Amino acid sequence: MPKPTRTQVVIIGAGPSGLLMGQLLYKAGIDTLILERQTGDYVLSRIRAGVLEQVSIDLLDEVGVGKRMHQEGLVHGGFDLLFKGERHRIDMNKLTGGKNVMVYGQTELTLDLMNARKALDLPTVYEAENVQVHEFDTAKPRVTYQQNGIAHSIECDFIAGCDGFHGVCRASVPKDKIREYEKAYPFGWLGVLSDTPPVHHELIYANSTRGFALCSQRSKTRSRYYLQVPLTDKVEQWSDEAFWEELRKRLDPEARAQLVTGPSIEKSIAPLRSFVTEPMRFGRMFLAGDAAHIVPPTGAKGLNLAATDVKYLSTAIIEYYQENSEAGIDHYSERCLRRIWRAERFSWWFTSLMHHFPENGEIGQKFQDAELDYLIHSESGSRTIAENYVGLPMDFGD
Ligand code: APR
Ligand code: PHB
Repeated sequence: MPKPTRTQVVIIGAGPSGLLMGQLLYKAGIDTLILERQTGDYVLSRIRAGVLEQVSIDLLDEVGVGKRMHQEGLVHGGFDLLFKGERHRIDMNKLTGGKNVMVYGQTELTLDLMNARKALDLPTVYEAENVQVHEFDTAKPRVTYQQNGIAHSIECDFIAGCDGFHGVCRASVPKDKIREYEKAYPFGWLGVLSDTPPVHHELIYANSTRGFALCSQRSKTRSRYYLQVPLTDKVEQWSDEAFWEELRKRLDPEARAQLVTGPSIEKSIAPLRSFVTEPMRFGRMFLAGDAAHIVPPTGAKGLNLAATDVKYLSTAIIEYYQENSEAGIDHYSERCLRRIWRAERFSWWFTSLMHHFPENGEIGQKFQDAELDYLIHSESGSRTIAENYVGLPMDFGD
């Protein structure tokens, strides 16, 4: 397909945010061009959390890409909290009046979105070099890039900055027009993916005096495990054997006995960060997903926040074209940020509750144990965690 020199919306980034944005706008008859710096294979090689809230499931269904997710995804109605060597189940389904989450790998979800765009033959440029955004504070924004050494320039009505934490859109905003809030945590998550059956049919979040551990999964035959490690650790220091041995030490006796180990098919260390940008709109350019905010992964809110940003943004842009109204666009930042801060707070709280902070001493561990003990024995305490885990409704508090 020849490359257009004008389109309605240029979407920068072909991660889950950009691809979902493209589908939502396509359904409303709005033209888009997606520019992605990497190859499609590279985008699919990134391993990330895959726990979907109901609002995200509904969005994927809305754009018609939910079929494989419903076939292969695992519906979870609860998860376990492990502390002081014992596991306790949070019955999310019962505590929230029937809500569940869906465990479905982000790689699979991205592939489904990518295939849907390809099947519709919608324009997507992979390996777009030196993408730059221009005049986004006017009614005629422009995006330039190079491909195979040839320069291109696209005029558009709007720019959707779905280009992740290291993207060009946020970086292009003048410093006096943007405020960034950030907290870096003094540890990382060492993750291992393995073709072994999960240790338990639901997720286990473990608070141990040796550090946090998480037992997650991708399918009935593929597991994803994480260990809290010092930021100074290098992945090369961790053999598979050392990983499994340390994981066993952080689990309860039953899980320890049931753990099936095997060779890792991916192993990496990710730092943890809370980060929010305010505002998320700059004239005709909007930030969505990781371009605007990062949560620490405890609770798996990142993808869900990205999905709801994109829903708010697509709704606002559709309203602009169909009703000639700028109301949605004007409210975009405020609507998103309200939801984002709630998820940021939950992710920060859940991270603080479950991880080992040596600087807080033994009393810090005692406080965590007491809070966990309270949470599992109080119905309102358990409900608070369940309600946040399944996800707050999109219109919460409106
Ligand atoms: N030009 C073009 N594309 C770019 C540029 C650039 N200058 N910079 C970054 N990109 C691309 C990246 O290569 C990436 O494919 O933008 C995409 C952003 O995708 P993600 O980082 O996956 O961000 P997002 O789509 O918002 O997805 C959010 O990812 O980190 C998880 O937990 C998070 O699940 C959430 C999801
Ligand atoms: C994951 O499966 O990668 C995962 C699951 C739940 C989390 C974080 C990560 O809270």
